[in-house]
Amino acid sequence: MSENLKLTVQIQQSEGTDTKFETYECEADPSAVMLDVVRDIQTNQAPELAIRWNCKAGKCGSCSAEVNGMPKLLCMSRVSDLDLSKPIVVTPLRSFPLVKDLVTDVSWAVDVNRRIKPYAHPEGEVELNMMQEEIERVKEFRKCIECYLCNNVCHVIREHGRLDAFAGPRFMVRLANLEMHPRDTADRIPEIKNEFGIGLCNITKCCTEVCPEDIPITDEAIIPLKERVVSRYYDPIAMLVRFVKKIF
Ligand code: SF4
Ligand code: F3S
Ligand code: FES
Repeated sequence: MSENLKLTVQIQQSEGTDTKFETYECEADPSAVMLDVVRDIQTNQAPELAIRWNCKAGKCGSCSAEVNGMPKLLCMSRVSDLDLSKPIVVTPLRSFPLVKDLVTDVSWAVDVNRRIKPYAHPEGEVELNMMQEEIERVKEFRKCIECYLCNNVCHVIREHGRLDAFAGPRFMVRLANLEMHPRDTADRIPEIKNEFGIGLCNITKCCTEVCPEDIPITDEAIIPLKERVVSRYYDPIAMLVRFVKKIF
């Protein structure tokens, strides 16, 4: 049987605006993940520590946090992969307002989600067969577990705090899922340009690098949506056709 690992963990804790780091000494099985460690601390040393988790299988997206400054799912972060010679620092996601300790207020995301037009089925009799490649394309987007690690690293939100003007990579994935659905008939291009602010993304690709589901967020969701916005609003031929239509 392998020996337990010894670790020092610093967890950010907050009550209102008062934020501090508490340090805990603990042991963990070599196969443990950071969620095991944080829950063990909660059970044995800090009963009031607030954390959010659910599936412990990397599929619900609720245990998102930062481990040593890197956005991670706590339930997928193996302790043995970390440098244990230094304290492991656990902090909450930075892209949402804090509620307490590692729990953030995600009501902004609920609101944005509500404002996205849902799937609109074509009226009348329609051919419902789809090409396999059409299915594969939207299937990628449906892998999203809504962990918001992508929003957490996007500089538009993280550094510039533009939650007011930019829906962030998570919702670009949702919008792409709907816009590229071969049967959907709704038009979301005006909102993607204006309300959801796709122009603020300058394709740094940090979102794609942290996605635990390996969704090609930038290449397959954001860039194609940008192309649709450009063809609608900035394509000179389309602009000319619109101008002529207006005159006649
Ligand atoms: Fe998480 Fe990836 Fe979905 Fe972003 S796109 S919320 S990183 S699963
Ligand atoms: Fe942000 Fe991703 Fe664009 S990190 S800037 S949404 S490519
Ligand atoms: Fe569900 Fe970590 S607890 S993703």
